[in-house]
Amino acid sequence: QNDIYSGGLHGRVPPLPMAFAELEARAEAALPPSIWSYVAGGAGDEHTQRANVAAFRRWGLLPRMLAGAVERDLHVDLYGMRLPTPIFLAPIGVVGLCAQDGHGDLATARAAARTGVPMIASTFSVDPLEDVAGELAPAPGFFQLYTPADRDVAESLIHRAEAAGFRALVVTLDTWVTGWRPRDLSTANFPQLRGHCLANYTTDPVFRSRLAHTPEDDPQAATAYWARIFGNPLTWDDLPWLRSTTDLPLLLKGICHPDDARRAADAGIDGVYCSNHGGRQANGGLPALDVLPEVVEAAGGLPVLFDSGVRSGADVVKALAFGATAVGIGRPYAYGLALGGADGIVHVLRTILAEADLIMAVDGYPTVADLTPETLRPVVSGS
Ligand code: FNR
Repeated sequence: QNDIYSGGLHGRVPPLPMAFAELEARAEAALPPSIWSYVAGGAGDEHTQRANVAAFRRWGLLPRMLAGAVERDLHVDLYGMRLPTPIFLAPIGVVGLCAQDGHGDLATARAAARTGVPMIASTFSVDPLEDVAGELAPAPGFFQLYTPADRDVAESLIHRAEAAGFRALVVTLDTWVTGWRPRDLSTANFPQLRGHCLANYTTDPVFRSRLAHTPEDDPQAATAYWARIFGNPLTWDDLPWLRSTTDLPLLLKGICHPDDARRAADAGIDGVYCSNHGGRQANGGLPALDVLPEVVEAAGGLPVLFDSGVRSGADVVKALAFGATAVGIGRPYAYGLALGGADGIVHVLRTILAEADLIMAVDGYPTVADLTPETLRPVVSGS
C-alpha cells in the first residue's frame, strides 16, 4: 500500500480528504461557481450522472478466504505496455481551469508521471499537446480526439500526437454537439470555456493556414473557424479514413451499445471505451456500469476501457470484475487538482489505488485476472 495508508496506521493525518464526499464539498468551496458548474454538472436533471454512481452500489464482491497474498499484482497489459495499475486519467477538457495557475493539463501530466497512471489528454486542453507530453514522460499518454470536420486539421492533430509520443488515439464519439447542460446554460459558461480550450487548434499549422490572420491577431475568426469544424457527427463510413490516419492503437470512446462494440471490432478498431461521458452529454441513459458486461462480451476480446461514476477503489474493483481492461477516473481527479494541484491528483489516485489493493487483499483476489463477473453478486437487501 502507499504512504497514505501506512501514514494513517502511524497516526499521520493526510493533507486532503480521504472520503470522496468531502473532497467534492471542499472542491466546490474552492472553485469559482462557474468552473464548479462546468466540472460537476451534467446533462438535464443529472439523473444519469447520479445513476452512474449509484449503479456501483447494486453490486457486491464475494470475498474468498484463505486465498490472500502478501503482495497483490494490479498491473494490466495494454497494447504492449505494462501498466503498473489498472486505472487511468480520463480526458477532461479545460481541466486547466481547475488549477490555480490555469495549467491543470500540465499538473495532470505531472501526476501521471509521478504515479505511472496513464493520462488521456483531451483535445480541449489549455496547454498544447506537445507541452502536456513533455511533462508526461515516462508515463504513457493517450491522445483524445474530437475529430474536426476539416480532415486535414484532424490529421495534423493526430500526427502531432504521434510525434509528441502519445501511445494511442482515443476518438470520442458522443460530443460532436454539446449536451443539454442546464448548469452551464444558466451560468452562460460556454464562451468563457471556449476561450480557454483552443490551444491545440491555435498552435496547429494546418488550422492556422485556414485563417486570413493569425489567431493572435484575430481570435474571433479563429474561434469562428473552430466552431465551423467542431460539430462533426462521425459515421461508420468515416472509420476507414480514421483507421488510415495512424498506426497507433485506435479506440472509440462513448460506446454503450453491444452492437456498436461488435461493429467497431469488425471495423478493425483496437479498443472500445465504454462511457456515457459521466452523464454530461445525454440525460435519461442507462448507467455506464449496467451496459459494461454486454459491451465487453460484444467486443470479443478487444480491450475495453471504462469510465463514468467511478469514485473509489471498490468501484474500480467492480468495473474490473465486469471485464474492463482499465478503469478511468474522471471528476475525482479534477477535484484533487482544484485542492492541491499535481499533489492533489496524486492523493486522489493513491487513495483509490490503496483502497482497491486492500479490497483485493482482504477479499482474496490477488491479481486483476482473479476478478471475474462470478466474483460479483447483485445486492438484494436495499441500502
Ligand atoms: C469530461 N469528459 C471528456 N471526455 C472526452 O472524451 N473529452 C473531453 O474533453 C472531456 N471533457 C470533460 C470535461 C469535464 C469537466 C468532465 C467532468 C468530463 C468525460 C470524461 O472523460 C469521463 O468520461 C467522465 O468524466 C467520467 O465520468 P465521472 O467519473 O467524471 O462521473
